[in-house]
Amino acid sequence: MKPLNVIILAAGKGTRMYSAKPKVLHALAGKPLVAHVLDCAQSLNPEKVCVVYGHGGESVPLAMAKYDASYALQEPQLGTGHAVQQAVPQLSDNSQTLVLYGDVPLIQQKTLHQMLQSGGLMTLLTVNMPNPAGYGRIVRDESGSVVGIVEEKDATDAQRLILEVNTGIMLVDTALLRQCLAKLGNNNAQGEYYLTDVVELAVAQGVTIHTTQPAYEWEIHGINNKSQLAVLERTWQQVQATALLAQGITLADPARIDVRGNLQCGQDVEIDVGCIFEGKVQLGNNVQIGAYCVIKNATISDGTQIAPFSHIDSSEVGENCHIGPYARLRPGTKLHNDVHVGNFVEIKNSEISQASKANHLSYIGDATIGSRVNVGAGTITCNYDGANKFRTIIGDDVFIGSDTQLVAPVTVARGSTIGAGSTITRNTPPDELSLSRSKQMSIPGWSRPVKKR
Ligand code: UD1
Ligand code: CA
Repeated sequence: MKPLNVIILAAGKGTRMYSAKPKVLHALAGKPLVAHVLDCAQSLNPEKVCVVYGHGGESVPLAMAKYDASYALQEPQLGTGHAVQQAVPQLSDNSQTLVLYGDVPLIQQKTLHQMLQSGGLMTLLTVNMPNPAGYGRIVRDESGSVVGIVEEKDATDAQRLILEVNTGIMLVDTALLRQCLAKLGNNNAQGEYYLTDVVELAVAQGVTIHTTQPAYEWEIHGINNKSQLAVLERTWQQVQATALLAQGITLADPARIDVRGNLQCGQDVEIDVGCIFEGKVQLGNNVQIGAYCVIKNATISDGTQIAPFSHIDSSEVGENCHIGPYARLRPGTKLHNDVHVGNFVEIKNSEISQASKANHLSYIGDATIGSRVNVGAGTITCNYDGANKFRTIIGDDVFIGSDTQLVAPVTVARGSTIGAGSTITRNTPPDELSLSRSKQMSIPGWSRPVKKR
């Protein structure tokens, strides 16, 4: 098989998005439309990927900088054929070229593989649609061979009855594509250089046109407005939810989960309604996620329960932990096994060892906490002096009374007990009670003021 080149058309304006942003940079499942296409293209191990951009200027190449792709500017935009013309100078003749679209985000690798297997000089991806309005129609002769594609605006009434439509996605021998593109004209209803006209030009050279069909129609749905974007988002979420159910994950409602990235689950995982998973999330065996949690780039190990309304970002949670409700784990949080984190507890850039607890209303930032530590309600690490951040170190078996401030840098030695309401500014010795608290006093005979008449 000849090496593969991929051209991604992404120069269009996207007028109907009513946005300052180019259409292909709008997100589906948390990722720009064109990034979905680039990921799929790259999964085919192509020799080269070239993105044709135009509207929105350099914003598309800049946003896609992490991809190994080249770019071709199309300015002005004179049609899909003209767009491909801008990219072909970058391609070698001894290759085959796959044309994809930056606004058709859900094309699947499997379908493209099937096109690559078809073996002809030109293969079109087509779909039979009960309502083909707006699409180019595949025109076949009496023997069923493809003879061309006619755009709806150029079609006769009889041609408009054809239900087989052009998805736009095609695979062509690069030398043949180059020859045909050189002959394109714009004498049509839209005054554009149509890529679809290469089909008729190839047929005129005696080329047989192959067609294949995608496994699912949603793979070829394009985005022109926010409504189509919202519909395709739901479709994709449903596809992902169905896949999770098929793996044995319990979803309280498959219509109320959003996966914006990659969610991997062990056995007997249960996910309640309204949860959002972003980036790469791994859930171990028997993990339970309560309602309305947002979990991003995190690992949650076996047996851990996340109670409702918790927010977890770039964190690692050990086995058999209890998190939430209303917990917030910020980047750099590492919790070992059996840790309990309760409501309105915020943890950042901190490591908490086995069986320690912070059950209520705390801020733990830049801290290292040992095992079996009890962090009382309202405890706060004062990690920031307005200019720099400092660490708080808490040894094993420490008990921190409620409403304590730990002014970093500070070390609370193993076995320490801190009296409630303390402001700890100096290191504490092990196994002793430390507290900083003004003595309680009472004033005998004192009476409350009374309101003057
Ligand atoms: C095209 C096909 C039509 C097919 C349909 C599928 C042609 C002539 N027609 O029609 O047969 O059924 O797609 O959706 O190809 N683009 C550029 N530069 C341009 C013009 C377009 O980059 O100058 C990009 C657009 O950003 C878009 C894609 O090409 O991603 C398709 O362009 P669009 O104008 O939407 O094509 P259709 O008229 O829908
Ligand atoms: Ca058009």
